[in-house]
Amino acid sequence: MRSSTLLSSALAALVQTAAAVTGAAEGFAKGVTGGGSASPVYPTTTAQLVSYLGDSSARVIMLDRTFDFTGTEGTVTETGCAPWGTGSGCQTSINLNNWCTNYQPNAPKVTVKYDKAGILGITVKSNKSIIGVGNKGIIKGKGLRLVSGAKNVIIQNVHITNLNPQYVWGGDAITLDNTDVIWIDHVSTSLVGRQHVVLGNNPSGRVTISNSKFDGATSWSATCNGYHYWGLYFTGSNDMITFKNNLIYKMSGRSPKVAGNTLLHAVNNYWYDSKGHSFEIDSGAKVVVEGSIFQNIQTPLEAGGSGKLLTGSNSACSAYLGHACQANGFGSSGTLSGTDTSFLSYFSGKNVASATDYNTAKNVLNTAGFGTI
Ligand SMILES: *[C@@H]1O[C@H](CO)[C@@H](O)[C@H](O)[C@H]1NC(C)=O
Repeated sequence: MRSSTLLSSALAALVQTAAAVTGAAEGFAKGVTGGGSASPVYPTTTAQLVSYLGDSSARVIMLDRTFDFTGTEGTVTETGCAPWGTGSGCQTSINLNNWCTNYQPNAPKVTVKYDKAGILGITVKSNKSIIGVGNKGIIKGKGLRLVSGAKNVIIQNVHITNLNPQYVWGGDAITLDNTDVIWIDHVSTSLVGRQHVVLGNNPSGRVTISNSKFDGATSWSATCNGYHYWGLYFTGSNDMITFKNNLIYKMSGRSPKVAGNTLLHAVNNYWYDSKGHSFEIDSGAKVVVEGSIFQNIQTPLEAGGSGKLLTGSNSACSAYLGHACQANGFGSSGTLSGTDTSFLSYFSGKNVASATDYNTAKNVLNTAGFGTI
């Protein structure tokens, strides 16, 4: 009796511990609470998941299984285009919003057959924590879409995968547009059609992306080489992004593309194995890259961008970021170098993530992504 009471209270404690966010956001989204202390819910069907994510209650939503959306909205067969040819390793494109017609008028036409659920992510409203249990929280065939004023959301320990990877416009894993105070942590994304993460042109506000793994390995690439081109797209008009301890793997472009009016603090990340460019930094972007590793990265920075960039060791950071900026490490990689300190004052008074020596970023290979907490 006594031992079974002990056992059940131990089990209850375990459940209690598991059904909560692990750790706390560092950097710009510090203070995010998501669903806070709401009692956890465990959806069992895709419809229930959609309902919990999209209602107006604060919720802690535990994902203890795979939610497979493929087939839930049917498939579409229609004419698309092949801007990079029809070789077996090439992505082709859906004519979404007439993209083929308007932007690729000379590309060969091809038949595309795609799963409709992938095209638009699940709407996520304010005050939600979405938490995977162990290595079980998988969303297949549909992404997450935080738009139209969604605030205070935590996405932790979840894998989003299989969004029509053959096709450009097949689906984005995580979309933010008109949001504030969002924390994406220990998330994995793989086999997407379009962006792994897209912060669109409206303000996305304060965002922290940490400990996540963006896996660009694919059999269908816009660069036809097994490396995904559409990585991370940060072009919001008023965005502050802390990007820390992430693994960016097998991308060939836009990882990230930074534009709009985005302040990006990229710290202690690991860029690993790219055939193409990593950063594209366009007008309006303000980017600090420190304490990070670039290993087998062909072109860390695409030439010709006109955004502001500061990289590597620099004591001028101390007055604004609260620490001296840390050197980056490069192995079998091109260079990334920027000396612009004119924008550091944008960090003043903000929650800024700490930084450690780039050698510590090697740990990211073991800790990034879902299933490691
Ligand atoms: C989110 O929670 C905060 C704090 O409890 C509350 O003020 C706000 O109205 C909630 N937002 C929504 C959209 O429910």
